Amino acid sequence: MNVHATTPAEAHRLDEPTSVFARDVIGDLSRAPKRLSPKYFYDVTGSQLFEQITRLPEYYPTRTELGILRDRSRSISAIVPEGAALIEFGAGATTKVRLLLGECRLGAYVPVDISGDFLNAQAKALRADYPGLAVHPVTADFTAPFELPEAIKAMPKVGFFPGSTLGNFEPGEACTFLKSARAILGKGGRMVIGVDLEKDERTLYDAYNDTAGVTARFNLNVLHRINRELGGDFDVGAFIHRAIYNRDRHRIEMHLICKKALTAQVLGKKFSFRPGESIHTESSYKYSIDRFSVLARVSGWNLLESWTDQDAMFSVHALVASD
Ligand code: AVJ
Repeated sequence: MNVHATTPAEAHRLDEPTSVFARDVIGDLSRAPKRLSPKYFYDVTGSQLFEQITRLPEYYPTRTELGILRDRSRSISAIVPEGAALIEFGAGATTKVRLLLGECRLGAYVPVDISGDFLNAQAKALRADYPGLAVHPVTADFTAPFELPEAIKAMPKVGFFPGSTLGNFEPGEACTFLKSARAILGKGGRMVIGVDLEKDERTLYDAYNDTAGVTARFNLNVLHRINRELGGDFDVGAFIHRAIYNRDRHRIEMHLICKKALTAQVLGKKFSFRPGESIHTESSYKYSIDRFSVLARVSGWNLLESWTDQDAMFSVHALVASD
């Protein structure tokens, strides 16, 4: 017997993260209705496509949040106590925190992200640009409890969670995340969080259905990723992007709609699609300031202050832990 013969599963060697990806994909495609987690959008190609999305004329959230952080950096920074540790949940690029650093006298900056290599590269660049700043990166999944570095334990703590990433959580998950952030940041903890606002349906629809088709490519890329990394054989051309606003649930839903009857296999497991069947790939929840304030309150936080742009497209909130 040839010991080097490879089955499809062995050809795509299952290191730990790949096996989690595989387990999630197989589990989520086995459900009715089918779904996939939006966290799997962000491989190298997906991250580049998201970067392009942030520059689309229709996609207002990123540039609007950057505008709020820039224009209001003084008052936002005023809620950060002197000598505080600023803990960023899911720190990717450091573009947003840089807008606050000039105004804050931080004891330390603690970016937390699952991608250790990228995190350490960003930390190095930040130390070069802000020589006085103590940077303590933590490689961890910020949606689960994690340990803070010993060096910052005595400092006042402020969480930073921009980007409306909270919108990807189901309301129950958002509450769980905010409670866990409350536990990590402790008594007297504060939080600065960016949240996309509810608004007219047309604007929301257009932001997720850009005319250049970048959001469609971003959505479809998750199937290419399954083909690449899990040896899948999805006929990606048989799927189309669909994004709709679900007004009752205050969320944009992204779907991949299968145009015809089709079977695809992933690691030897077969999945059948009916014509018109959907894979629900993302929910992006939108909050009014009132509904966000209620969510914060039931999750152990009080709303201190909210900032929005002139057109009330996006919001940045300051929260303080309730005792
Ligand atoms: C990164 C979750 C804030 O929900 O708007 C952009 C992701 N999806 N276009 C969002 C996304 C489609 C984005 N978040």
